[in-house]
Parts: sequence; C-alpha cells; structure tokens
Amino acid sequence: LSKQIIGLVPGTGKQSKGIALRLGKAGFNVLIGSRKEEKAKKIAAELNDMIGKDCYQGFSNEQIVKKSDIVFLVVPPEYLENTLMTLNPFFKKRAIIVDVNVPLKFEEGICYYIEDENYKSASELIQAKVPEFVSVVGAFKTISAAKLNNLSRPLDVDVFLTSDNEEAINTLIEILSKIEGLRVLNAGPLIFSRTTEQMTALVININKLNKLKHASFKVMTARGKKN
Ligand SMILES: NC(=O)c1ccc[n+]([C@@H]2O[C@H](COP(=O)([O-])OP(=O)(O)OC[C@H]3O[C@@H](n4cnc5c(N)ncnc54)[C@H](OP(=O)(O)O)[C@@H]3O)[C@@H](O)[C@H]2O)c1
Repeated sequence: LSKQIIGLVPGTGKQSKGIALRLGKAGFNVLIGSRKEEKAKKIAAELNDMIGKDCYQGFSNEQIVKKSDIVFLVVPPEYLENTLMTLNPFFKKRAIIVDVNVPLKFEEGICYYIEDENYKSASELIQAKVPEFVSVVGAFKTISAAKLNNLSRPLDVDVFLTSDNEEAINTLIEILSKIEGLRVLNAGPLIFSRTTEQMTALVININKLNKLKHASFKVMTARGKKN
C-alpha cells in the first residue's frame, strides 16, 4: 500500500465519510478532519467502530493539511473559497488535492449544474486558487454518498479522474484501485471536470425523473483493454 498520508477535509460529512469508509476497508489509514478537532476525533472513533479496525484518526482541518500528501477536499461548494483561504498556507510541497466538489442547484425539482461565468469547473477554480506546487485531481464527483456509505453492497461503479498532472493521476490510480468494486479511469485533463460535474446533475435528474435508485456511471467496453 502507498506510504503517502491521506487526509480528508473535512472527514465528517456524508460524502467524506463514504470515501473514508471505502479507503479504510481497502487497508489505508485515513486522517479525518473537521473545523473542530473534537468532532473529528469523535467521527474517527465512530468510523473505526464501523469497520472494526483502528485506521482513522481525527485532527483539525489545518493539521490534516499540514500532515497529508493527499488531501481530499470535501467541503460544500459555498464554503470552499473561505476554507482554501484558511488552509492554503499549510499545504505540503507537491501535495495532491482530490476535489470532489459539484456546484448544484435545484429549481422546480430539477437539478442544475451551477455554471461559472467562464464555464470553468470547480476543479479548475480550485487549481487556480491553491499554491502552484499543489496539483488538483477531480474524482468521486459522479458517485453518491449513499452508494459510498452502503458497505453492504459492492460499489460496482467507475470513478473518473481528471488532472493536468499525470503523476498525480497515477498516484490516485494506484490508491483508488485498491477499493473493491471501483474501476478507476483516467478521464484526461482538469478541463474535463466540467463534464464530470455536469454528469452529476444529469444522473440526479435521471434518478428522479425515472424513479430509479442509485443510478451511476459505468463505461461500457467491447473487449476490455487493448494490448
Ligand atoms: N453528498 C453526495 O452525494 C455528493 C456526491 C458527489 C459530490 N459531493 C460533494 O461533496 C462535498 C461535500 O458534500 P456533502 O454532501 O458530504 O456535504 P455535508 O455532509 O453537508 O457537509 C460536509 C461538511 O462540511 C463542513 N462544513 C459545514 N459548514 C462549513 C463551513 N461554514 N465551512 C467549512 N466547512 C463546513 C462540515 O464539517 P465540520 O463541521 O466537521 O467542519 C460538514 O461535515 C460537496 O462539495 C459536494 O458537492 C457530494
């Protein structure tokens, strides 16, 4: 297993707990962050109980960023800018941010992707706001918290990785491939987070309009991988 330190900022929300559980089950140690250290420690203890291993430890978000080589950024979109302003001074050199953010809004029961005025994705906006020695990888945008948290069911889903740093993509492929039932796909440069973010709104509407439960994405292939 990778020796890189993995932390979640925060590790206390719906999506981040799901990611933490899947990483813990795959054998990784995971640092759980929160604005409040006590809350992080409480959730880490709960997650340890849930999977019956001591693989989670709780710290403040600031401590997580100081310690981690790979920081999953799992903050709701409206708090992202402030969170980055607070945490930016503490990123390690060559840290990787795994960006899970999807800016969405609901109007008359339909889910819409909130378009940036320059059509930039959340991932691109984050990359522009962090120190230049930090690389952003978009991931898990299309996979719901409900699916990640339901440990009684195999994941059976694809995760799409987007980044302008090939080495960061390869690091994430190595780590995430250990999660059972998750196929990890390189989906190209960070600009393609525009697509994965839009796909999330699409799948939410597909679920709702067709009365489906947990619809998700899996790319069809004819004969597996080319040689
Ligand atoms: N839910 C999904 O199915 C899903 C799917 C794909 C992507 N995502 C993405 O995942 C991210 C998190 O979504 P979520 O559904 O997990 O959110 P959530 O459960 O509502 O909240 C996540 C965490 O945000 C922190 N938070 C609350 N207010 C904050 C503030 N003012 N400043 C900084 N942090 C604050 C809290 O952590 P502390 O109180 O511990 O600091 C909370 O535990 C979003 O970017 C979302 O787009 C979610």
